[in-house]
Amino acid sequence: MSLPAPRPDRTCLVTGASSGIGEEIAGLLAARGLGVTLVARTESKLRVLADDLAARHGVRVEVLATDLVDADARSALPGRLADLGLEVNVLVNNAGFSTLGPVYRSDPDREIAMIRTDVEAVVHLCSLFAPGMAERRSGCILNVASTAAFQPIPGQAGYGGSKAFVLSYSHAIREELRSQGVTVTALCPGPVETGFAEAAGIDPSEMAEAMPKLFWVAADEVARTGVEAMDANRAVAIPGLPNKASAAFGWLSPRRLLLPMVARQHPAMRDL
Ligand SMILES: NC(=O)c1ccc[n+]([C@@H]2O[C@H](COP(=O)([O-])OP(=O)(O)OC[C@H]3O[C@@H](n4cnc5c(N)ncnc54)[C@H](OP(=O)(O)O)[C@@H]3O)[C@@H](O)[C@H]2O)c1
Repeated sequence: MSLPAPRPDRTCLVTGASSGIGEEIAGLLAARGLGVTLVARTESKLRVLADDLAARHGVRVEVLATDLVDADARSALPGRLADLGLEVNVLVNNAGFSTLGPVYRSDPDREIAMIRTDVEAVVHLCSLFAPGMAERRSGCILNVASTAAFQPIPGQAGYGGSKAFVLSYSHAIREELRSQGVTVTALCPGPVETGFAEAAGIDPSEMAEAMPKLFWVAADEVARTGVEAMDANRAVAIPGLPNKASAAFGWLSPRRLLLPMVARQHPAMRDL
């Protein structure tokens, strides 16, 4: 099944649409004539994007400012959409961030906020919206994981674990939903220049040093890979050949050899 055709009573819900990959995905869906509903915390940015997409593509765009850490706010989303006369037939779980540094220097509240955003919100929104898709026998889910899903990451342990969860969860629900006419795709980017590094407190020059240029893919290209993979009903999409190779290497390498190497390269693990 490919992306559903536009309908006035259906929407593509895109989380983390206020910047980076999510903003680009929302733009690509709107360019296909699909109505989009933008979710993130920064309402002002979402409103600017909504006006731009509506003007450029002539589609319906709603803004639902939401803090996805908050379970009650997530639970309220189907009701807010119903009030607008909308059902979700494309769900893009893209919002996410990473903490940085070893667990013995971590801020417990920040770690939990990351798990709530990167893991809990993905599960919650899939549970909220997949039943309607299955009932209508139509729908697409795109979960944004990372190449971090393919191996543990000392220095970003919670983040790597979150993305491994998202990849595993996406594979499993893809199989569950196959008979229901609903597709599930996991997008696993390598490094992308977005607000992500700043939100994680990663120094851009250290990041560039740790991640050679050939691994970097632009946000619009990453988004295009994700939307095309969703349209082609692929299970996993990894943007760029070097990232595909590194994911395979990370997946297959013995942990006792790989992890000291990953730790040595990681900016947050140096000088400890
Ligand atoms: N950039 C990379 O190198 C990279 C690599 C692999 C995977 N990824 C993944 O790609 C996804 C998008 O990240 P990005 O690179 O585009 O980073 P970004 O530019 O920082 O975008 C993150 C988005 O998530 C939203 N967000 C964060 N916390 C939220 C919360 N509590 N509630 C609602 N929205 C929240 C942010 O909006 P507000 O701040 O307005 O809420 C923003 O729209 C993430 O899942 C990330 O893990 C990124």
